Amino acid sequence: MRGLVCLLLATGCVTDFEKPLEADEPIPEEQGPGPVLGDYQAFIKCIQFADFQIADMAEAWSTVGGTTANCKTCHNDAEYSGNAQEFFDALKTRTYVQLKFFAFDGDVVVNDVTIPNVSKAVSPYAGHPRFNPNAGMEAVETLYGFTATRVLTGNCP
Ligand code: HEC
Repeated sequence: MRGLVCLLLATGCVTDFEKPLEADEPIPEEQGPGPVLGDYQAFIKCIQFADFQIADMAEAWSTVGGTTANCKTCHNDAEYSGNAQEFFDALKTRTYVQLKFFAFDGDVVVNDVTIPNVSKAVSPYAGHPRFNPNAGMEAVETLYGFTATRVLTGNCP
């Protein structure tokens, strides 16, 4: 476009051509695709009790510590509860619980850092009883998959 304008206004163009073309214009920053799953709270809102049950969240987290590190011994909150409804309600309503399972890293992702670190007593959790979090994390992955599919297909009742 600038070339055409210069042709029409021939005299004013000389200095313009000495400059690198469009050097005065900001280079557009590369745009990422943006969060596919969108808003964190919209994702949390979309989590369904039926999916929570099929993913086996309550069963997995209430047993993952075995007898030596049973989570409920020390964590009296509804998180990790074997009672699916109270665990689900805590997950749906409390950011503190939500962030332990799901994080936001440009998009909603499974939080595969906090609990695995705690389970290995990584600082600042030194002294925390060790446990194998795999069965619980698998349940979180399953619930994440169900919910992500719902979000992506617009199936959030
Ligand atoms: C013997 C008591 C005890 C048991 C059993 C226990 N925890 Fe903890 N946990 C603590 C204490 C105390 C803290 C806070 C201090 C720290 O970080 O070590 C904590 C911190 C945490 C944290 C990070 C901070 C927070 O409040 O969320 C997570 C996540 C966690 N525990 C998960 C678990 C899970 C999952 C289990 C079961 C597999 C479990 N804990 C079993 C005592 C316990």
